[in-house]
Amino acid sequence: MQGLLPEKIEMSSLAETAGKRTMRLHTITLGCQMSAADGAEMSGPLYKRGFSAADSPQNADAILINTCTVRQHAEDRAVSLIGSLKPWKNEDPNRVLIVTGCAAERLGEWIRKKFPHVDLIVGAKSIEQFPEIVEETLNRRFDALSENREAFGACPGADAGLDKELFSSPVLGATAPGAPVADFVTIMRGCNYSCSYCIVPLVRGREHYRPVEDILEEARRKTAAGVKEITLLGQTVNSYSSTREGRKINFSGLLELVDQTPRLQRLRFMSPHPYYVDDRMIGAIARLRTVCELLHLPVQSGSDRLLKLMRRNYTRDSYLQKVEKIRRAIAGVAISTDFIVGFPSETEEEFAQTLSLVEILRPVCAYCFKYSPRESTESAAWPDDVPVRVKEERLERLNKLVDSMTATALQEQIGKTLEVLSEQSNFGRTRDGFKVKWNAPAPIGERLPVKITAAAPRILLGETADEI
Ligand code: 5AD
Ligand code: SF4
Repeated sequence: MQGLLPEKIEMSSLAETAGKRTMRLHTITLGCQMSAADGAEMSGPLYKRGFSAADSPQNADAILINTCTVRQHAEDRAVSLIGSLKPWKNEDPNRVLIVTGCAAERLGEWIRKKFPHVDLIVGAKSIEQFPEIVEETLNRRFDALSENREAFGACPGADAGLDKELFSSPVLGATAPGAPVADFVTIMRGCNYSCSYCIVPLVRGREHYRPVEDILEEARRKTAAGVKEITLLGQTVNSYSSTREGRKINFSGLLELVDQTPRLQRLRFMSPHPYYVDDRMIGAIARLRTVCELLHLPVQSGSDRLLKLMRRNYTRDSYLQKVEKIRRAIAGVAISTDFIVGFPSETEEEFAQTLSLVEILRPVCAYCFKYSPRESTESAAWPDDVPVRVKEERLERLNKLVDSMTATALQEQIGKTLEVLSEQSNFGRTRDGFKVKWNAPAPIGERLPVKITAAAPRILLGETADEI
């Protein structure tokens, strides 16, 4: 990686000057799994420079916040988090605060002016240049940080009112030392769609695909380090397209190649776009040993008029027909999805079509969002005649229906013995994505048979069994 040499010399000189401990990094990511994977990836150059993982912001010498802007709420959380870190920074100006990601792309200049305590802002479009950019900042900060090491050993009273629920580095662990059981591999960035409500293409740019060899190499490196489950990530992951040895490789071809990774037990991907679901992709999922039987297929609405307004490029029927095909080809497949409610001009009848789609689709879970107008998107310019109160009421009704589907799906597992991959000594997930807790401690990173005895609201409970 350009710009990171001479790594070894810098790491050892840091260790010497630091004396008692190395610099510590805390990574906080807001938003989707793609954002979590980006946050982990961007932490990499810092770990390479000798940073270790800090378990909390209070104990960190550097904080990296990877932000999200897909809905206003996500952006508000990012802004309030950045503001809340002012006392942390003021306590020791040698600390380093880095803000990256989608909100940084959209609001970079504004953040720079409003929050002078931020050291470095790197937008989502520049993630691939991040190692070089961060190198420069670290070079400026690193020496002062080392010299003043003793000054901030204790970090007294540094609780800056941080949101404890946010994903943070120990949970992600993707580039932190030590391999997690389940990890991500990004295969593409950006999006060529222009859904009328969506800010992603504006902040992430058009699609570009990682070379096949890079993806396979990362998968091999991760499984060699102990990762058992890989989730391939992309905004529309199944529009992947590349070449290898002169041969065109599409998403199904990529699944076939990643499936061959030594020691890989499970392969997942997120999020496919319904338009690109074809027979070859369905066949690959059905046939390949590692590919799991859970498909997150965002639908957004059950109304054709709204799907057209949203520019989704499929209809209610074509979506449901694809799901039918998937269900016929892949025994026991679980489907999950996303919905937006209260889109401008959505009528009560059109919302009822979303509810009826849920009844037909029977998803194991669904992420339901209230429409949030995003600056510079097509729909943000349209009059929005759906009052907030109505949006909220529709969201509540939809969530209630979806929750009942989830509860039924969980109940249906009781009495079965399922293959669970243990991510902790008594927690893991089934191939079709159910979370499971069991009675006795088991080795981490193993596939165990667990007999399901009960269902809590979002998790199955069980006992380890002898065989499936
Ligand atoms: N308002 C509400 N929800 C949105 N999503 C994307 N943009 C918006 C928006 N402007 C939702 C979609 C998408 C998920 C990641 O976020 O459901 O699938
Ligand atoms: Fe946004 Fe649509 Fe692209 Fe998904 S497919 S990232 S919703 S523009």
